[in-house]
Amino acid sequence: RLLAGAALGSLLLSGCQSNQSLTLGDMASSYNREILGMSIWAIALSVIIFIGVSAALFYTVNKFREENNTEAPAQFHGNNRLEVILVVVPVIIVMFLSVLTVRSMARLNPTSKESVAIETLGRQFWWNFAYPASSVQGGGVVTNGNEMIMPTRQKVAITLTSGDVIHGFWAPNIGGQRAAIPTVKKVWEVDTDREGVYQGNCSQLCGASHANMRYKVVALDQDRFNTVMTAAKAYVAPTPTPGSPEAAGYALFMQGKSSTGAVACAACHRVQGTPAGGVSGPDLSFFGTRRTLGAGMWEAMTAQHWEEPKAAAELHAWLKHSPVVKPGSLMPRYDGGTSVIAGKVTKGGTLTDEEIDDIAAYLRSLKLPEEADYWRGTP
Ligand code: CUA
Repeated sequence: RLLAGAALGSLLLSGCQSNQSLTLGDMASSYNREILGMSIWAIALSVIIFIGVSAALFYTVNKFREENNTEAPAQFHGNNRLEVILVVVPVIIVMFLSVLTVRSMARLNPTSKESVAIETLGRQFWWNFAYPASSVQGGGVVTNGNEMIMPTRQKVAITLTSGDVIHGFWAPNIGGQRAAIPTVKKVWEVDTDREGVYQGNCSQLCGASHANMRYKVVALDQDRFNTVMTAAKAYVAPTPTPGSPEAAGYALFMQGKSSTGAVACAACHRVQGTPAGGVSGPDLSFFGTRRTLGAGMWEAMTAQHWEEPKAAAELHAWLKHSPVVKPGSLMPRYDGGTSVIAGKVTKGGTLTDEEIDDIAAYLRSLKLPEEADYWRGTP
């Protein structure tokens, strides 16, 4: 049974991604270091108490054992000294742990000295990351949906809220999980000492695509972070060459008309430097620089990303009928089918495969300059 347990345990653990540790956390983050420091005391005290109690039990059982004794043991009432010890010692332990906890809570509270602020908004079923104008670094920038960019070696203030139901922000490498609650804005701090791409997940059951509400945290050293933020702030979407597939895609995206029905991309999505200013869907300003689609359902992790046949097919399917490939997606279908949006049966438009590919070509052309590609150098 022990062997079976060990085998099952190792099977479960082998499913864990190496970049998300739930046991010891990522020591590059001061949040995780603080929690580990506190946990070690609690674990050490538990082990000492367990050993002490077990030893006392074994000693007593062995020392006072008598074979074939049917007489009642000696009867006596209470032991005041022992009872005082049994009350005082646990009280001291609990008080000690409380002090540690309060100290850690104070240390992990925002100090309002951060120069980077990120407003994080959870929606069914994606994440929006924007730097408010008040953020000293990156003020005014909105990142690609589901891709959060942060600098290393400094505190980043995250303001967390939700646009619909309760979601949970959880990227274990940079800190613990927090609830994103509608109408409530909570500020907390995260940080990491290491450049890297970290996995984030929604940690509160929030609907049909709760499991498809992932995001990436891209941590960049200060120089690269500055380059990306400067480029993102100055970004103006390129104007497609007339007659190109991109130009056809642009027209569909902006004018909201197709050969057979309405398309309304620009009503829900924003593209910086164009008339498209919708905010109910993810920001698509530099879609071509993205490497994730459908809130992390698909990842294209190579330099060519969207040009790969697999990624191109995924994007095509996404534009064609997003709610078919992602349950609960609020994007209308463009294959002539219907989906339920905000409780109403909604018929999207009908786009031909060619029209869908034109829109995909337009989206892929929206790219940050090469030096500002925040994915560059990641595995
Ligand atoms: Cu959002 Cu679960």
